[in-house]
Parts: sequence; structure tokens; C-alpha cells
Amino acid sequence: MSRDFEFKQLLRAYRGGIISEATFESEMRALENGKAMTNGNGAGFHAFGRTYRSERDAIVSFIDKVRAGEANGGEAFSRWAEVCTTDCIRSGIRMIAEREAYHSRIFAKRLEELGGECRAQNTEDGRKFTEYLGNPSIPDTEKLLSFTKRVGKPEDAIKPICDFQASLKEDLGTKEALRLFAEDELSSTKWLWDACAALNAPKQESAQPMMN
Ligand SMILES: [Fe+2]
Repeated sequence: MSRDFEFKQLLRAYRGGIISEATFESEMRALENGKAMTNGNGAGFHAFGRTYRSERDAIVSFIDKVRAGEANGGEAFSRWAEVCTTDCIRSGIRMIAEREAYHSRIFAKRLEELGGECRAQNTEDGRKFTEYLGNPSIPDTEKLLSFTKRVGKPEDAIKPICDFQASLKEDLGTKEALRLFAEDELSSTKWLWDACAALNAPKQESAQPMMN
């Protein structure tokens, strides 16, 4: 996109009331500095169905949520490993717990480097998921069924991460970290789907949903 075109789009967004004067001015400064801050038609950075002021803002928002979510995932899988009664999956679950926890640490570090704040909190849904996986009275086979139902097909589950990472143009460090993150998540999810299929093959129909 040419700078002239970007300027016209920016002006149109401002005149149309889509962006504030402050956003218009900061985007103009970025354009004058020759720094592209747009990834589509119009001002701002588009991701996850909304428009951020810049790529950096979109990254800060996303990795903060990832940091909180993965910390909860680490806790959830660690608690599952503690009560897991199926020998052939216990170490795999421990490995996933470690992956989740280190993703959280890496993105917390990156957030700090970018000058962002830890704002995202664990959600009620996340807290229930941890309690569910840590419940010793629920069989591992049911937990596997609930997990696969919750996250969906592995490739679909990681698509938002892949799309976001593919759209990043400036922050190559975060872009590469997100690429590895997506590959880890794909590996963990595929393994859980395989374990689910192997251990549940004869009784798919009888499993209870994760949460009532
Ligand atoms: Fe995860």
C-alpha cells in the first residue's frame, strides 16, 4: 500500500468518525516516520475482529491473554497429571503442563520487554476447567473427550494464532515466538486427540460433558 493511499484512508477514517483525533495524529506521525502501522484497508491494525491502534498494541493485548490462559493451562494439566490413573498418558500430560507453563513465562517476559502490563486474569471458565481436570473422581477417558470437544480440531484450534502471527510485519521476535507457540499447541492438541481416540474407541457415546 502506498503512503499516499494510507494517508487518504487515514483521513477518511478520521473524517468519518471511525478513529479519534488522537489516533489520527499518532497514525500520521507513524506514517511520517515511514513506519507502516496498517495491515488492511484503513487505519490501525486489524486482528481478532477489531482494530488496534498499532501492531504493538495488538501484540500486547494478545500475548497478555495468552500469558494468563497458558498459566491456567499449566496449572490444569499439572493437576490432571497428579490424579491421572492411566500410566500411558501421565508423562505426556506432565509434558503438556510444562509447555503451557513455559509459554506463559515466555510471553510474560515478552510483554515486559514491550512495556505492556499484565492485565488479563484467569477466566471463570478457565478456573472450572482446572478444577475439572484436577478432579480425581472423573476418569481420564472422560477428560480426554471433554478436552477434544472443548478445543475442537487441532488445526482449527491454532488457526487464530497462525493468522495473527502471519499478519505481523514489524515485531519479528514476537512473530517467531508465536510460530513456535502454535507448533507446540498443535503438537499437544494432536497428541490429546490421538490419546482420546485410542482410549475411548469403544465408548464415545457414554461420556459425560465436562461441565454441567
Ligand atoms: Fe495452550
